[in-house]
Amino acid sequence: MRHLNPQTLLLFTTLSLSSPTLAKALPHKHHPIPADDFVYVSNLRLKDSRGLHYLTGLNYWACMNLAAPASQGGNYTRLTTELDQMAAKGVNHLRIMAASEGAATPQPFRMAPALLDAPGVYNEEVFRGLDVCLDEMGKRGMRATMTLNNEWQWSGGFAQWVSWSQGNEQIPYPPSWNLSAAPQRATPRTGWGNYTVEGVDAESYGAFTEYANRFYTDGRAEEWWKEHVRTVVGRRNTVNGRLYGEDATIMTWQLANEPQPQAPLGNEGPFNKFLVPNPDDLLVPWVERISKFIRELAPKQLVSVGLESKQGEWYFKQVHNFSTVDYATTHCWVQNWGIYDMYNSSEANLKQAQDFATAFMRNSSQWAVDIGKPVFLEEFGMARDNWENKGKEYPYLSSAGTTHKDAYFNSIIGAVIDEFTGKGAYVGTCPWAYGGIWRPETQYVNDFGLVWAGDPPHESPGWYDLYDTDEAMNIVSDQQKYIAEWLKDNNY
Ligand SMILES: *[C@@H]1O[C@H](CO)[C@@H](O)[C@H](O)[C@H]1NC(C)=O
Ligand SMILES: *[C@@H]1O[C@H](CO)[C@@H](O)[C@H](O)[C@H]1NC(C)=O
Ligand SMILES: *[C@@H]1O[C@H](CO)[C@@H](O)[C@H](O)[C@H]1NC(C)=O
Ligand SMILES: *[C@@H]1O[C@H](CO)[C@@H](O)[C@H](O)[C@H]1NC(C)=O
Ligand SMILES: *[C@@H]1O[C@H](CO)[C@@H](O)[C@H](O)[C@H]1NC(C)=O
Ligand SMILES: *[C@@H]1O[C@H](CO)[C@@H](O)[C@H](O)[C@H]1NC(C)=O
Repeated sequence: MRHLNPQTLLLFTTLSLSSPTLAKALPHKHHPIPADDFVYVSNLRLKDSRGLHYLTGLNYWACMNLAAPASQGGNYTRLTTELDQMAAKGVNHLRIMAASEGAATPQPFRMAPALLDAPGVYNEEVFRGLDVCLDEMGKRGMRATMTLNNEWQWSGGFAQWVSWSQGNEQIPYPPSWNLSAAPQRATPRTGWGNYTVEGVDAESYGAFTEYANRFYTDGRAEEWWKEHVRTVVGRRNTVNGRLYGEDATIMTWQLANEPQPQAPLGNEGPFNKFLVPNPDDLLVPWVERISKFIRELAPKQLVSVGLESKQGEWYFKQVHNFSTVDYATTHCWVQNWGIYDMYNSSEANLKQAQDFATAFMRNSSQWAVDIGKPVFLEEFGMARDNWENKGKEYPYLSSAGTTHKDAYFNSIIGAVIDEFTGKGAYVGTCPWAYGGIWRPETQYVNDFGLVWAGDPPHESPGWYDLYDTDEAMNIVSDQQKYIAEWLKDNNY
C-alpha cells in the first residue's frame, strides 16, 4: 500500500488537516453490502446503516460485458483484478450501464454484444454478466448507479429505441470511433483506427441529438423501454438470488446518461455553455413521468437523472426538483466544452480549467442547496499531457505524463470536498473512467470488434482512461482517507 502523501492532500482543500492525523490513516476497509442496507437521503447528505456516506466513485460502464463469459467478450480475471484494485483504493461506488441496445446493423462504436438485441429480446449471458458484476461489487463494499438509457450512441440508447420504433430507420450517426479504420498497425487487430467517415452518415451532433430526442415523444419507444426497466428492476440475480429491486448493492436507478434538453432557446453563460431556458422543454415532463414510474417500481432505492447540468441553473432546478428525484448530478468536461486544450502545456491553460471546474462546483452546490438536495459529481476527466504525443503514432499513448490531469483532479475533487465538509451539497465524486490494466499500446480487438478501454467505443480509446498505475488513482484514494479521517474527527 502506498503511503499517504500529505502534500497531495494539502492541495485538496483550504481546510487544514494536521499531518499527525494523516499519519494515523489506515488502509481502506470495505464492508460487504447487506441486502437491506439501503442508502437514503438525509437533507443534503446520503446515509447508510454505518452513518454518513461519501461516494468515492468511478465510472466502470462496461462491467456487465467484462463479467460476461469469454465467448461473449468477457474476462472474469480482468474483472476481479480491477475490482480488487479499485477496492484497494477505497472506491465504494461504481456507475455502470444496466442497458445497452444492439441493432439489426451492428456498429463498431457501440457496446457489443448488447444486453438487448431488440425490444424484449435479451442476451441472457450478458444479463448474467450484470448479475456477476453486482455480486462481485457487493462483496467488495461497492454500490452501483444503474444507468438505464443513454443520449449517446455508444450503448445504443435513445436513438436505437427510436429507430426500433420506426421500423429500423437509419440513425443519423455523428462521426464515431472505428477501431478497424486507417491507420492500422502491422499486427492485425491491434488498432489504431479513427473517427468513421464511411459506412454511416457522419452527421453533426446537432442532427444526431435531434433524432435521439424524438425519444421524449415516441410513445411506442417509451413503452418498450419501460418494459426493460420493469425487467431489470424485477430481475433475480442468478449468482446470489437477490432481487435487484431488493438489493442495497443498487444505490440508484438513473434515467439516462446525459439526457439533453429537447428545445433550448439558445446559449448563454460562462463559455456560452448554459442554455436559454425553454419553459416548454419536453425533457422536464419526461423526467417527471419516468422518475415517478421508477420510484413506484423500486421504492427502496434512489432515483437520479444523469444530467450534466452544464445547461445551467434553470435546467438544473427544473429537472432535479421533483420529489421522485432523490439527488442532483453534474458532469464536468473542460476539453469537450472548449475550456481546455490537451495540446497546450501552459499553466494558463490548466488554470483556466481549474478555475472553471471550481466555480462550476461552487455554483451547482448552491443550486442544490436551494432545492434542498444532495448533488453528486458523477463524471469528469482530463486527457494526459498529450502534447508529448504530438507527431507520434497515436495521440493518446499511455506513455504521456499526467501533470495537468493530476493537478486538475486535485482541484476539482478538492472543491467537492470543501463543499462536503462545509455547508455545500456535494456528496462525492466519480471520475471517468476506469481502464484498469488496459493500455492502447497493448490493445487487442476482440471478436466483437471492441477493446474495453475506460473510454466508450465511440471515442478514441485512451483519451480519458484512468489506469491502475496512474497518480490520479492515488488522488481518488487519498480523498477517501481524508473523508474517513474528517468524519472521525467530527464525530460522525
Ligand atoms: C484477461 O485478462 C487478463 C488479465 O487479468 C489477461 O492477462 C488476459 O490476456 C485477458 N484475456 C483475454 C482473452 O483478453
Ligand atoms: C470501419 O472501418 C472499416 C475499414 O476501413 C470499414 O470497412 C468500415 O466500413 C468502417 N465502418 C464504419 C461504420 O465506418
Ligand atoms: C483521422 O481522420 C482525420 C480526418 O478524416 C485525419 O485528418 C487524421 O489524420 C486521421 N488520423 C490519423 C491518425 O490518421
Ligand atoms: C421546488 O419544488 C418546491 C415544492 O414543490 C417548490 O416550492 C419550489 O418553488 C420549487 N423550486 C424551484 C426552483 O422550482
Ligand atoms: C494556451 O492556453 C492559454 C490559456 O488559454 C492561451 O493564452 C495560450 O494562447 C494558449 N497557447 C497556445 C499555443 O494555444
Ligand atoms: C458561477 O456563478 C457566477 C455567479 O452567478 C457566474 O458569474 C459564473 O459564470 C458561474 N461559473 C460557472 C462555471 O458556473
